[in-house]
Amino acid sequence: MPPLVIAIDGPAASGKSTVGEAVARELNYLYFDTGAMYRAVTQAALARGIPIDDEAAVTALAEQTHIDVIPPTVDDGRQYTVLVDDEDVTWQLRSPEVDAHVSRVSAYPGVRTALTQQQRRVAQSGRGVVMVGRDIGTVVFPEARLKIYLDASPEERARRRYEELRQRGRSADYEQILAAVRERDAVDRSRATAPLRAAPDAIVIDTDGKRVDEVVAEVINLARERLA
Ligand code: CDP
Repeated sequence: MPPLVIAIDGPAASGKSTVGEAVARELNYLYFDTGAMYRAVTQAALARGIPIDDEAAVTALAEQTHIDVIPPTVDDGRQYTVLVDDEDVTWQLRSPEVDAHVSRVSAYPGVRTALTQQQRRVAQSGRGVVMVGRDIGTVVFPEARLKIYLDASPEERARRRYEELRQRGRSADYEQILAAVRERDAVDRSRATAPLRAAPDAIVIDTDGKRVDEVVAEVINLARERLA
């Protein structure tokens, strides 16, 4: 029996986390955001002064660092708490510095091997999981019961990220966000290992002009059909 996994992949700020969390809540599945793990390794490298270009050192860090993604421990709008060697780094993962470096870290094959192994373990509990990322349907769980690929234009995605930052009271510059989103997508799509792309059997949903609740309803309907 293939694992009870719903894979949601897509480019930066395509709505994976909002949709993924809502779908998981509705189906009573675990929600797991694999981007948090890549961000956690990046944040740890920056905090320890490890040069991002030093592939061997960053890979060793990914292999040795203990990353836990657990239910929220603080009621401050977070979707989950991320602990790196028991330190709460949840909000630090969303910094512009992490945004700027995470795609380079994620391109290292050894980093991906280390994190992919941990992600596969998450589904072993037998409980259903909604797992979101870039390569869940293609590499982490090619046997997932349902694969969704969320897409939207770069402008729409940058606008969403801009609104998100503003709502959190952070300063934000639309043009800078748009440039960063395009840059991260380009690196994620062109890397040799596990590039961002839709699996051949993924259902692609273009979310431009769609409300979140419409997309959530679409995915839940597909899940009910597929898992029945
Ligand atoms: O929230 P957003 O879509 O902006 O990013 P994220 O999902 O937190 O992912 C951050 C970065 O981690 C991506 O740009 C990828 O470089 C990397 N990532 C990956 O390579 N593979 C995954 N399964 C998830 C994230």
